[in-house]
Amino acid sequence: MSSLLYVSCIISLLLQAGLASKTRHFKWEVGYMYASPDCEEKILLGINGQFPGPTIRAKAGDTIHVELKNALHTEGVVIHWHGIRQYGTPWADGTASISQCAINPEETYVYRFQVDKAGTYFYHGHYGMQRAAGLYGSLIVEVADGEEEPFHYDGEFNLLLSDWYHQSIYDQMVGLSSKPFRWIGEPQAPIASTQNPPSQALSAFSSLLINGRGQYNCSLAAHLMEGSSTCKLTSKDCAPVVLRVLPGKTYRLRVTSTTSLSSLNLAIGNHKMMVVEADGSYVEPFIVDDMDIYSGESYSVLINTDQNPSSNYWLSVGVRGRKPNTQPALAIINYQPNSPSKLPESSPPVTPEWNDYNHSKSFSSKILARQGTPKPPSYAERQIALLNTQNKINGYIKWSINNISLALPPTPYLGSMRYHLKNAFDPSKPPDNFPSDYDVMKPPKNPNSTQSSNTYVIQFNSTVDVILQNANALADNVSEIHPWHLHGHDFWVLGYGDERFEEKDASQFNLKNPPLRNTVVIFPYGWTAIRFVADNPGVWAFHCHIEPHLHMGMGVIFAEGVDHVRRIPKEAITCGMTANKLMNNGLP
Ligand code: C2O
Ligand code: CU
Repeated sequence: MSSLLYVSCIISLLLQAGLASKTRHFKWEVGYMYASPDCEEKILLGINGQFPGPTIRAKAGDTIHVELKNALHTEGVVIHWHGIRQYGTPWADGTASISQCAINPEETYVYRFQVDKAGTYFYHGHYGMQRAAGLYGSLIVEVADGEEEPFHYDGEFNLLLSDWYHQSIYDQMVGLSSKPFRWIGEPQAPIASTQNPPSQALSAFSSLLINGRGQYNCSLAAHLMEGSSTCKLTSKDCAPVVLRVLPGKTYRLRVTSTTSLSSLNLAIGNHKMMVVEADGSYVEPFIVDDMDIYSGESYSVLINTDQNPSSNYWLSVGVRGRKPNTQPALAIINYQPNSPSKLPESSPPVTPEWNDYNHSKSFSSKILARQGTPKPPSYAERQIALLNTQNKINGYIKWSINNISLALPPTPYLGSMRYHLKNAFDPSKPPDNFPSDYDVMKPPKNPNSTQSSNTYVIQFNSTVDVILQNANALADNVSEIHPWHLHGHDFWVLGYGDERFEEKDASQFNLKNPPLRNTVVIFPYGWTAIRFVADNPGVWAFHCHIEPHLHMGMGVIFAEGVDHVRRIPKEAITCGMTANKLMNNGLP
């Protein structure tokens, strides 16, 4: 090839690349602000004065560049990009003590990473319980230019679901680590001045939010609080979300849950939903009347506006898996040209009974990969069984995995592992299994557990199966839902089962069309099996996405190919022992 031709080839390649993908720049400041998400004024964590934080929209292949300034006065902050795999940029994962040092007040950290796959994602704080304080927002990745979604729609809406507590996260965290333990309870407002509230009062403290807005029963609360004036019914912060639709069209609803605690169910009066995406991967479309969504999950559903156009309809979100203390969150599907304030003729759809687990299992089992989704390797080199138990350590209630409750170290693993620092975390190996005589159907015989910062070191590029095994909690006849989220990867969901996983259950694994996801639920007294390929050098959290559970130690750390990680930005690791190392002799 002549050199001229060669040069013009290179130029046209560069041009194509430049046209196809962009770098999108954002300048953000995280700070506390006043807001009334459910009409009751509180302080919460916002970004640039917004709650929820700004929605990022990008196209597959784009680079996201967020300059994040910590404008909190006295606490650190980090932001995690949930569902983004961070191939080659493990220091941008935004996990305090794992991928980076918390950003100090007044300091700025640059998150720069590629979004390589179209889908519905979100971001949130990943330090202490900052997510529960409102630090979250949506991240939507559209297909690259010239590509098409495998389904048609005329318009789309984004619904970011959350739960909101009137108790501060500090109050919540102190309660979780106190003797006696103080549980945060269902989303509600435990108001001290409310003595013996009438039974209907509790259900009035509703705070499930849709796009940061909920309808908490202010007037009742105001009454109970003897005239406190913090409750502003007129605040537009808490006006119900209105989805303006035209009759006879198809709409895509992107639905994400960033709840602190609640598992949710979403239904729309008179309308069926077709599920087409889960956690940024396409699924084989299926039609439902209502859908479950656990914290950390995202879905896209299509709805047809084929109902009587002279009416509006309710969209309702209720609680699953725990006896709800809240009213459902509501939004209005507003058929144009009706007024949005025209009340729907039929009452809001009733979500299934909170403890109808068969309903939830049947929904989960319908989620299968769409044709063309990458298939899992046919076997795994390693199987790790993780027993989820509620335990006690020195009388404090914790959650443990194979009897180890996760305690994060002061020095982020990514730096200390990359530079082989000694004593930065517990070097012992956590077990790949749990005692074969452990009875998952009964409370633990010996509830004592230990805390550790140890990690699962995974052979780079190997395939790993993880069996998440649920068990009975400390109290008799209690086993909870736990949605598990893996950083840095998608995994295939191979199957679910009841009671204790047996080796023979592996023969039932779905290797044909298992869905690719980043979050999966374990049902009470059940197990869930997943498979992933450890092909992303870095240190990755794998944990229950229930904020108080993670805070109580419900997670593990996977480290893979850390020696292949190059050039960690020093701002990511200038703290703890890596800071000393940087000061004394610089890092290699
Ligand atoms: Cu969305 Cu480690 O979490
Ligand atoms: Cu949990």
